[in-house]
Amino acid sequence: MAAVDYRLEGEIAVLTIANPPVNALSLPVREGLMQALERAGGDPAVKAIVVTGEGGTFAAGADINEVSSGLVLKSPITREVQARMEAASKPLVAAIEGVALGGGFELALACHWRIAATTAKVGLPEVKLGLLPGAGGTQRFTRLAGPEAALEAITAGHQIPAPRALELGLVDALADPALDGALAFARRAVAERRPLRVTSDVGERIRGVDPELFAAFRRKLEAKARGQLAPFRIVDCIEAACTRPVEAAFARERESFIECRDSPQRKALVHLFFAEREARRIPGLGPEVTALPVHRAAVVGAGTMGGGIAMALANAGIPVSLLELSAQALERGLGVVGKSYDASVARGSLTRSQADAALGLIRGVSEYPALAGADIVIEAVYEDLEVKQEVFGRLDRVAGPHAILATNTSTLDIDAIAASTSRPEKVVGTHFFSPANVMRLLENVRGRHTSPETVATVMALAKRLGKIAVLAGNCDGFIGNRMLMFYGAEAEFLLEEGATPEQIDRVIEGFGFAMGPLAVRDLAGNDVGFQIRKGRRLPPDERWSPILERLVAGGRLGQKAGRGYYRYEGRTRIPDPEVVALIEQVSRELGIERRSIPDEEILERLLHPLVNEGARIVEEGIALRASDIDIVYVNGYGFPAWRGGPMYWAEEAGLERVIATMRRLAPRRGARWRPAPLLERLVASGRGLSSGLA
Ligand code: COA
Repeated sequence: MAAVDYRLEGEIAVLTIANPPVNALSLPVREGLMQALERAGGDPAVKAIVVTGEGGTFAAGADINEVSSGLVLKSPITREVQARMEAASKPLVAAIEGVALGGGFELALACHWRIAATTAKVGLPEVKLGLLPGAGGTQRFTRLAGPEAALEAITAGHQIPAPRALELGLVDALADPALDGALAFARRAVAERRPLRVTSDVGERIRGVDPELFAAFRRKLEAKARGQLAPFRIVDCIEAACTRPVEAAFARERESFIECRDSPQRKALVHLFFAEREARRIPGLGPEVTALPVHRAAVVGAGTMGGGIAMALANAGIPVSLLELSAQALERGLGVVGKSYDASVARGSLTRSQADAALGLIRGVSEYPALAGADIVIEAVYEDLEVKQEVFGRLDRVAGPHAILATNTSTLDIDAIAASTSRPEKVVGTHFFSPANVMRLLENVRGRHTSPETVATVMALAKRLGKIAVLAGNCDGFIGNRMLMFYGAEAEFLLEEGATPEQIDRVIEGFGFAMGPLAVRDLAGNDVGFQIRKGRRLPPDERWSPILERLVAGGRLGQKAGRGYYRYEGRTRIPDPEVVALIEQVSRELGIERRSIPDEEILERLLHPLVNEGARIVEEGIALRASDIDIVYVNGYGFPAWRGGPMYWAEEAGLERVIATMRRLAPRRGARWRPAPLLERLVASGRGLSSGLA
């Protein structure tokens, strides 16, 4: 089949884009569309044109590979195809099945009308790739739906469900299948001689817009998207649509598109797009390994994590039994789950009926035998090896022989947990991040005996839950927490040498993290952090700074106590001279002369040890590839996506800088802080982290 199929349905020409897997608008598609439009335009027997997509989807946008090559695209470009469409003298209707995203939706927006299937989704997600819609998307969307809706949807890259798109005026009718609806619509338009509706001429919604709207939205973005280029440029384009002549406004979009396309942020975000897809590929797990079906699930432990995991499963339509032995704790856990669904409804992220349907899938149980029917049981009890071993022993006895037993541990040894069962091949780590029903990351951990089928099942389950899974090997802290240890430890060493909590957090937040390391500690609870630290054994040549312990001893447990590294008024943190005095006291005791530490040094000393440990993790095969680490840090630890993740960021800046920092730190910190051999090999050979040198 050609990239665009042309056929006649009576008097209507149907143009079908056929470019698997997602009908991206690569050159053959654009050429095919151009030719088909010419042909339909020139055939007097054709009275109207319908554009649609093959394989249950309209089009997922420009070909990301083509856009990110940075080369000038070959003609015809999408804008030329659109110009041809808008110049058509016959009704042109888009039939949207599946998704119409990015350039795909921009193409549909250049049709006179759009008919969508009820389950279809439309949107302009370019911002997620550090881009903005460069084929009139910001302009036509704003003209049809108004600037408020455009600002919200395009700066966030939302996929908009068809019913909402109808309300917004982005589509004109819903029909199933969309093609039948579009054909009927086109026939009516012909019969009624309906005037053609060229969207770039539609003007009602862009007139008389209060300029304060844009100023206010920019202020809102300052809080949400600080440091990012594309969201702010999108606001400029939408403002231009409302304030400038058509030609100038379209030109503005074009210039901004090029600026974004050529930015390092675009490059970093495209890296993450492909990294996310690459993370699903597990070497050695061929198509002959199939995932087990998961019809029913169970979760052990109705605390914060257990409740969140149960919600994540229920939200994907999987019935789940939530086990808690004490009736009181079970009731409390279910209460929290219920409240969390209420909050989702109040926020508008779920409808009442969706929330009720999900809640209806969660059944509280208080005895182990009630878990017998589950295909997978996920344990989320207290983080203690003996406790978990006891739970797994019991699970092994009650769960069906086919069932997978997963643990939500964030640091413990999967093999030691598996040893308490008769089915180590079915034991696996599924490390969720809190809140588990919200956070997209899932760190799946393969033990020594975990079977390929078990791995395939938890990877497939992640996709079903709408999560991004990364497969990690079994070691202390797996990928994420193992690296984090160095970051957290160094933050305290910086305090000992002269930094203050607010300086450290300001530098890290300025880099783009949502929160700095000490603010995060206060949020999670310093007692919790200290407890985890006590459970870890340090090599003899390393030490912990005593600062954390002193804070805990002084009742500075964090936000929940109103004081930690900071003083809190509500959730607002306020620098506290008492903490600085405590830190200065520690410096004196250790004989460290405090000095003023430049911001740049803070950044490197926090992030380079993270990257260095990441390189060891790649080298040991704990992570399958460096880009998996980027996925973990961006989705689980607040690393700014537009910087591409720690490994990508470090490589862009030069891996030799990481080596230099580690050479400076290692003599004082211990052998594990020496430069990772992989980094030294890569720098010596002038190669990159994706070279396979690990
Ligand atoms: N250009 C090139 N390739 C694309 C693509 C695009 N716009 N969109 C998706 N693909 C590729 C993916 O890389 C993947 O390839 P792989 O199988 O070799 O890994 C394949 O299509 C399937 O995509 P995937 O994301 O794995 O499938 P999905 O069903 O989970 O999601 C989409 C489908 C369309 C929702 C999702 O791919 C998406 O959001 N795409 C990007 C849309 C976008 O940003 N468009 C604007 C581009 S400027």
